[in-house]
Amino acid sequence: MTLVIAMDGPSGSGKSSVSKGVARALGLRYLDTGAMYRAVTWWMLREGVKVEDPAAVAARAGEPDLRCGTDPDDPAISVGDTDVSRPIRTPEVTGAVSAVAAVPEVRERLVALQREIIGIGGIVVEGRDIGTVVAPDAPVKIYLTASPEVRARRRSKELSGATVSATQADMARRDRLDSTRKADPLTRAADAVEVDTTSLALPEVISEIVQIAKGADAGASVREALSSEERP
Ligand code: DC
Repeated sequence: MTLVIAMDGPSGSGKSSVSKGVARALGLRYLDTGAMYRAVTWWMLREGVKVEDPAAVAARAGEPDLRCGTDPDDPAISVGDTDVSRPIRTPEVTGAVSAVAAVPEVRERLVALQREIIGIGGIVVEGRDIGTVVAPDAPVKIYLTASPEVRARRRSKELSGATVSATQADMARRDRLDSTRKADPLTRAADAVEVDTTSLALPEVISEIVQIAKGADAGASVREALSSEERP
């Protein structure tokens, strides 16, 4: 497998900006798996599926036709021919996505699709279960964290009009749902490197992860060279 960087962590930890920055710096592709769960949620809401009913969501989980781009400068996502990159960020979708992402049939389908897109690698993949479930063999696993206050401040800047305290309460609710669900909960992989972004500027986080990735890549080449020397 060529380089796969698994980037997990809760919302507001800086995953998206960091993942895109690392992909650009290393010339890798980029996949936002949260956008995929959001796109399925958008489709369920449009179809009038009761998202709080797991059986209703499971019954239709195979239907939405997702298409995901992997360009860090233009992370496009569509359902069929509809570009959903903006509508998946609305409060309606944000409020419903944890319930949809907790349904095992949705996860099974999206994990299979994610593995297909990852293919032989050369990609930064951001999400909640990348290092634990989607790509457990990824040579680089990062777990991003930040204090709840900083995460809420970053998110409320993105969502115009939302106060920091309301955002913090909503994030705590989603974190609780995402980390306590039965199917693939948000957890740090035992072999992930934890990077706390609370007091780091974006370029600092990016350069720290680029260094980790370069070290892992160099390590892999050395191991490959050693094992080919051992071959008869
Ligand atoms: O990163 P985000 O906020 O766009 O993610 C949206 C939701 O999708 C979030 O509530 C958790 C869920 N998610 C998931 O369950 N597994 C992933 N790999 C990515 C996101």
